[in-house]
Amino acid sequence: MESHDPLELFHDYWKTARQKNDPVADSLSLATVDDQNKPHVRTVLLKTFRDGQIGFVTKAGGKKIAHIAHCSDVECCLSWPTLSLQVRMRCTTTEMENSILDYLWSLRPRDAKIVYHLGFYQSAAIASYQLLEKKFQELKNKLKGKKDIPRSKFYLGFILHPYAIEFLYHNKSRLNKRELYEKKGEVWVKTILTP
Ligand SMILES: Cc1cc2nc3c(=O)[nH]c(=O)nc-3n(C[C@H](O)[C@H](O)[C@H](O)COP(=O)(O)O)c2cc1C
Repeated sequence: MESHDPLELFHDYWKTARQKNDPVADSLSLATVDDQNKPHVRTVLLKTFRDGQIGFVTKAGGKKIAHIAHCSDVECCLSWPTLSLQVRMRCTTTEMENSILDYLWSLRPRDAKIVYHLGFYQSAAIASYQLLEKKFQELKNKLKGKKDIPRSKFYLGFILHPYAIEFLYHNKSRLNKRELYEKKGEVWVKTILTP
């Protein structure tokens, strides 16, 4: 058994997938469990990696927020076809701090900011999609000429703190190479798994 820093490895692979214009470079499947111990999975966008902190943003009301409040552990999976690589991470989570949220908000396109100001909680039932479109257009017209759209209080984020990271290097022969890193105290311990 050896130890390495798989977080840096992860970061290098993410950068490479983006450089290669991998269409799903930023797509992260996020699995949570609800208070009945039922699993839920959905895609979120990987937004930031700073000082080993991996982050995604979300919207108030979403089920993932309630799930994380119930169980702060999540499992994530990224799969990059351009690299023939899958990465799975088991993580604890913490709320993203305001300075990172401010920075990420500043990068959002204007329309994507306006959506956050519609006042709808994520994953709530709504009468129709047309109603959403109407409200969006009304708000867009109202905000015309307004230079800055302030960060919405609905705009939230989480930082993922992996304690287990597995890299699976897919091989045509199916003799896939799997490397599992597990954090033991401050040290990452590496194990090779059978495919
Ligand atoms: C390509 C793609 C990117 C997405 N990115 C996000 C995201 O960054 N944050 C987010 O909350 N939902 C994102 N979603 C929507 C989620 O998959 C999900 O439908 C939503 O967050 C509601 O999930 P909930 O079950 O936690 O309420 C994205 C969906 C797709 C298809």
